[in-house]
Amino acid sequence: MTDTILIIGANGQLGTVLTKSLQNAYGLDRVIASDIHRSTSFEGRFEILDANQFEAIMECLVKYKITQVYHLAAILSANGEKRPIPTWNLNMNTYFNVLEAARLAEVSKVFFPSSIAVFGDHIPKIYTPQNGTLIPSTVYGMSKVAGENWSHYYFKRYGLDVRSIRYPGIIGYQSLPGGGTTDYAVDIFHKAVAHQVFECFLKPDAMLPMIYMDDAIRATMELMEAPSQNISVRTGYNVAGMSFTPAELAQVITGFFSDFKISYQPDFRQNIADSWPESIDDTPAQKDWNWKPAFDLMTMTRDMIKQLTPDNSIKP
Ligand code: SER
Repeated sequence: MTDTILIIGANGQLGTVLTKSLQNAYGLDRVIASDIHRSTSFEGRFEILDANQFEAIMECLVKYKITQVYHLAAILSANGEKRPIPTWNLNMNTYFNVLEAARLAEVSKVFFPSSIAVFGDHIPKIYTPQNGTLIPSTVYGMSKVAGENWSHYYFKRYGLDVRSIRYPGIIGYQSLPGGGTTDYAVDIFHKAVAHQVFECFLKPDAMLPMIYMDDAIRATMELMEAPSQNISVRTGYNVAGMSFTPAELAQVITGFFSDFKISYQPDFRQNIADSWPESIDDTPAQKDWNWKPAFDLMTMTRDMIKQLTPDNSIKP
């Protein structure tokens, strides 16, 4: 059977790019992008959908005979700390609606984006293992741990084929992040190409795991295409891309723009960063579905600058 895919939260940082990649892979007619506001950035089908509304999700699944759902709508780590209870309510209620609607409509696969934010106290920060302790420091992280457990529960209890990745900070030129702790690593490029000073909200030595958008998309699609019997992790897979500090990133950018300047004004997001891993051990993803990132700090930086520079001319 040919798959028909619903993406919830298609207007977000990941959704914008994933929607287009899924359209390329499955065909324009086979992908339904949805969000609470209409977007003009997609060709193809679009539905206005509020994932707080169970009936609306159900109608959409039935109307299009959806076989795969990617549930990307959520409030991220930094924004979530400003309104803890509403963040919990939105992140959890929308996911409950998706899981329950997917079960009842007999959807064959669900994708749930988890995050390095599931980790907090009592983890080894370097090469944080798949099965490390999960005591998150943010409401967003708490909702991701709970979401992972609900994914696992729906798989065990109902056989719903839910798959999930614990994304590192995602860096891409195609879209902007919205309210996370790793956003600086995207914002910095927009300032650099505009020859403006970048004020960083993290300290120079705040090492965090990151991943280039191309790798994040490929990881998602490779996981979703893997045979079900290969999926040994039904919570969320650790996935590594690269790790660097703001100072290291600034240094590499200076190789492209010698006048680039960064200043540091750490705020509450530094505390969140302090609680997260510095690097990720993704052995199960490597073993189960052959995960391997293609981009490192240098190749990611080169591509970001190339894509964001109008005439595409870069040196060195
Ligand atoms: N990039 C996200 C954030 O910073 C983590 O999943 O909130």
